[in-house]
Parts: sequence; C-alpha cells; structure tokens
Amino acid sequence: METGPRMGATVVTFLSFAIFLGVASADPDMLQDVCVADLASGVKVNGFPCKATFNETDFFSAALAKPGLTNNTLGSLVTAANVVKVPGLNTLGVSLSRIDYAPLGLNPPHTHPRATEIVFVLYGELHVGFITTGNVLVAKTIKAGEIFVFPRGLVHFQKNVLHAPAAVIAAFNSQLPGTQVIATALFAATPTVPDDVLAKAFQIDAQEVEVIKAKLAPKS
Ligand SMILES: *[C@@H]1O[C@H](CO)[C@@H](O)[C@H](O)[C@H]1NC(C)=O
Ligand SMILES: *[C@@H]1O[C@H](CO)[C@@H](O)[C@H](O)[C@H]1NC(C)=O
Repeated sequence: METGPRMGATVVTFLSFAIFLGVASADPDMLQDVCVADLASGVKVNGFPCKATFNETDFFSAALAKPGLTNNTLGSLVTAANVVKVPGLNTLGVSLSRIDYAPLGLNPPHTHPRATEIVFVLYGELHVGFITTGNVLVAKTIKAGEIFVFPRGLVHFQKNVLHAPAAVIAAFNSQLPGTQVIATALFAATPTVPDDVLAKAFQIDAQEVEVIKAKLAPKS
C-alpha cells in the first residue's frame, strides 16, 4: 500500500472535495433504492432506520389535497408532507408542504435549518420575502402560477395581501426541513428565555417582554 506524503496529499484532496460536496447539498445522498422510515424504531441514526417491509401506502399522502383550516390568530396553516407523514421519503432529500392563508393571513417570520424552500402559488396573492445575513430584505408580491425561493436557513415570511383566501405548495430539499418560528422560539420556549435577555436584545423593558410572552404562550 502506498504511504508517505503523496498519499497524505491524496487524502487531503479527497477530504476537501467531500467537505465541498457536503456544504453544497442539503440532506445526505441515499445509499439504496428505498429506505422507508421505521418511525416507531428506538434506534437513533441520522434520519430513520429502514422498515423491513413496505408497500405503496408508505409513498402516498392525501394530506395536501384539501385547504387547511386557517381560523387561527395569524390566519395561516402549514400542512406538511414530510418523512414523518410519508415514511417513504426517508433518505430521499425532498418533501412538500401546503400552506393556506385566510384573508390577510400571515405565515410569520421563520427559518428552515435544513432546507431551501420554493413556493408555487395555487391561488391568491402574497407578499413574500427573506432577509439575508447582511440584513437585506429580498421581497416581492407573487400571484397564482408564480414561484419564489427562500434560501436555506434564512428568515422568511408570506403575507396574504388580499381580502380573499390564498394557498401555495412549498417544496424542500430535505425530508424534514425543520422550522423555527422566530417569535415563538424567543418568546414561547420551554423553559422560558429569561426576560432580561429578551429585554436587552429587543431594547424594551421586562414588562413588555411579559406582555409578548403572554400573547404567544401555547394555548393549553
Ligand atoms: C401496507 O402496509 C401497512 C403496514 O405497514 C398495512 O397496514 C396496510 O394494510 C398495507 N396496505 C396494503 C395496500 O397492502
Ligand atoms: C375553526 O373552524 C373549525 C371548523 O369550522 C372549528 O371546528 C374550530 O373550532 C375553529 N377553530 C377556532 C380556533 O376557531
């Protein structure tokens, strides 16, 4: 077997390439045709272990067929078709959601740590945008048949601008994109983020922090 500096250089080159590939893609690549998620397994792996047997139902969902109920405080509902709902998506690196908006409804600022998102407007008109790490807002109003892209990890939102319902299909390059809603992550975490942390961060006083926390507290 070859040893010494030449092999060392080869290993370094290979590692650089592997690191480049890792940074350039989202979910890791699959190693077999299918690996239907065994969601009940207690085994901890990156993703889910494969079920021993599967059938077509593991690759199917009707969850996005009908509008979701949007009669909530913000006037929006995300219905996900990710690996938790469609076990056949395990290791495939893609998923979809449907988002429905009440008149003037908002899908509030949030991030997906593991995926870029692309939305396709089914109907209605939305003001959508993302904020770069340089705090530049990239935003546009989009309507039926149009698309908009939210790069992985960047804070983004969608606001229905009409007094009529709207809906989009959202595609992700991850089987489980993950979502952090900025307001609830900061003001409705368990255990709670200390008031003095939020008061200083937002340049408000602790009483104002408590008012926001009370409004965002999970309904029991
Ligand atoms: C598919 O497999 C599930 C168990 O994972 C079973 O409940 C279901 O009946 C099967 N469906 C068909 C069409 O065979
Ligand atoms: C939303 O509407 C559904 C069906 O009309 C109803 O069952 C539900 O209680 C409503 N939810 C809220 C929060 O008003």
